[in-house]
Amino acid sequence: MLEEQKKDDKDENPRRKFIKVMFAAGSIATIGGLGGVGKYLTPPIKFASQWPQIRIANVSQLQVMKPVVFLYPDTDTPNWLLKLGVKAEGGLGPDGDIVAFSSICQHLGCTPGLLSPGDSPPCNSSYKAQFPMAYCCCHGSQYDLVQGAKVIGGPAPYNLPPVKLQIDSNNDIWAVAMGPPNIYGMGPGRTDDPSQVLEYDTFNANIITQGTAIPSSG
Ligand code: FES
Repeated sequence: MLEEQKKDDKDENPRRKFIKVMFAAGSIATIGGLGGVGKYLTPPIKFASQWPQIRIANVSQLQVMKPVVFLYPDTDTPNWLLKLGVKAEGGLGPDGDIVAFSSICQHLGCTPGLLSPGDSPPCNSSYKAQFPMAYCCCHGSQYDLVQGAKVIGGPAPYNLPPVKLQIDSNNDIWAVAMGPPNIYGMGPGRTDDPSQVLEYDTFNANIITQGTAIPSSG
């Protein structure tokens, strides 16, 4: 039993572990003195000075709905760089169809699958995509990649966060920042109130330390 518990602890997602530790710290603070409760339950926010700037790929390398998977803004957070094949909200490049999003489902952190128009997800053969989208077979969350990875079905409470891109004069595509909402599992502000959705929560040094942020390239 104890061995199983140890294994569970070892396998646990470090972000979840952090939340548990903070919860435990809050409990200790409560026992220690009610005057300090607010102070100890809210992790102090420290922001990194700037987002990493990394080169992902060249425009000429992209093929429609063939994702380039890249890590950003830290070393264990995957994203998709995509050429959707249709003009998209915020899309860059000659066809206005190059976008990038976190590939972590906002429901419980699975990896959704990508669907081109007419495709069905492996878990639901009666479903046919009408446009480029992501479908999470864990519990059925659906994201419209043409409209900023907006949630269009299933239990996900938030859109997939976009990676902000820039294209330089050599047609190299760079990741330069993340947009809100927060990446799944990161940041204290998980709410639909825009004033509470802090773009830079993903750089709260208590969750992603500067040491794990990807170094800028170039
Ligand atoms: S984790 Fe994706 S729908 Fe539940």
